[in-house]
Amino acid sequence: MSIFEQRESNIRAYGRMYPAVFSTAKNARQMDDQGREYIDFFAGAGVLNFGHNNPRMKRAMIEYLEQDGVLHSLDMQTTAKAKFMQRFTDVILAPRNMPHRMQFMGPTGTNAVEAAMKLARRATGRHDIVAFCHGFHGMTLGALAATANQYFRGAAGVPLLHVQHAEFGCPQTLQELASRYRDPSSGVTPPAAFLLEVIQAEGGVNVADAAWLRELAALAKAVGSVLIVDEIQVGCGRTGSYFSFDGMGIEPDIICLAKGIGGVGTPMAMNLVHPELDRHWSPGEHTGTFRGQNLSFVAGAEALSYFQTHHFMDEVAEKALLAQQQLQPLLDADHSLQLRGKGLILGLDVGDGERAAAIVKRCFDEGLIIASCGTGGRVLKLIPPLTIPAEDLVEGLDILINSVRSVMEAAA
Ligand SMILES: Cc1ncc(COP(=O)(O)O)c(C=O)c1O
Repeated sequence: MSIFEQRESNIRAYGRMYPAVFSTAKNARQMDDQGREYIDFFAGAGVLNFGHNNPRMKRAMIEYLEQDGVLHSLDMQTTAKAKFMQRFTDVILAPRNMPHRMQFMGPTGTNAVEAAMKLARRATGRHDIVAFCHGFHGMTLGALAATANQYFRGAAGVPLLHVQHAEFGCPQTLQELASRYRDPSSGVTPPAAFLLEVIQAEGGVNVADAAWLRELAALAKAVGSVLIVDEIQVGCGRTGSYFSFDGMGIEPDIICLAKGIGGVGTPMAMNLVHPELDRHWSPGEHTGTFRGQNLSFVAGAEALSYFQTHHFMDEVAEKALLAQQQLQPLLDADHSLQLRGKGLILGLDVGDGERAAAIVKRCFDEGLIIASCGTGGRVLKLIPPLTIPAEDLVEGLDILINSVRSVMEAAA
């Protein structure tokens, strides 16, 4: 028995799904300790947008370490943090005329969501938040209340209160909510916030359309609710633009970022907070020992250089098109399959969790790391590094297509 089987908590999940011991990794390929190579269509669930051990990011981190750069600093001011903040301002915020402040907190996504929910409640004096069916926002109790999945909610051990879940992407739901908020005798009052992912990643790669998003943003504004967009999995270039909502005509009050913002695998989370809301925080009111992740600032500053021109996003668009073209014959041959997504987050809905699990296993046996998501795990989620070479993308897709074919044929 391995040390993992002997000693690791029963909670381990991915280690069971991918029973290899990984040792090294480069861009979209991971190696195990037996020298076997895998193509990575999972990318740390959206962390490794710039590939494993991105050479530019790695070099910057090594230089910083060799200079004895400050590694831990709580939320003190450091040169690494200043460079990251300046570059984020220049490359992302200023071109979009976004006045948002950057709030750093504990370095995981759930920390960012907790902080956003707390601030929305503080600023509005309201308790309830509207999140959406199939949304995923993290595991700590506040964020878990907004996470829809029953399996995760069941582990809370206490009631998960003050969040209601509305139908995602449904115009009629918004109209019904609006009419209830307008009716002083409906018994329903407007929420502190609407919290959503523009593309529900864990929820099955469900894509909201721009018209629905604008309607939701207008409703939030009309009833004085904060609009929180959780960009933790689909931000940082994943969809072909830095934010998944770019060009859709909405202006979120709070944007939660994590995962790809550090981008190399060291953690960092950051909320972009509209100054009107930010003034409701008092110094040090929402702390976190690890909110000054200097190595992540160094890597994150380097990651931002990918967005200084349009080339990187053009490449993502080309690869997204290539992926869709490669998958099209599979979809044409089997109309029960559905492909959803945008940019380099694609979801292949095979209609059944057991079938999807069999495909994940077969892919792994053939050298492809891919995960499933959605209700019962019925959707195969393709989120390769954005830097994946076209050849690796095609090779990985070939493995996926063959695996889907053989599992679907066996099930027919
Ligand atoms: C959209 C979204 N929000 C929040 C989280 C939670 O992030 P973390 O696992 O870093 O706490 C995730 C993680 O997958 C996510 O996909």
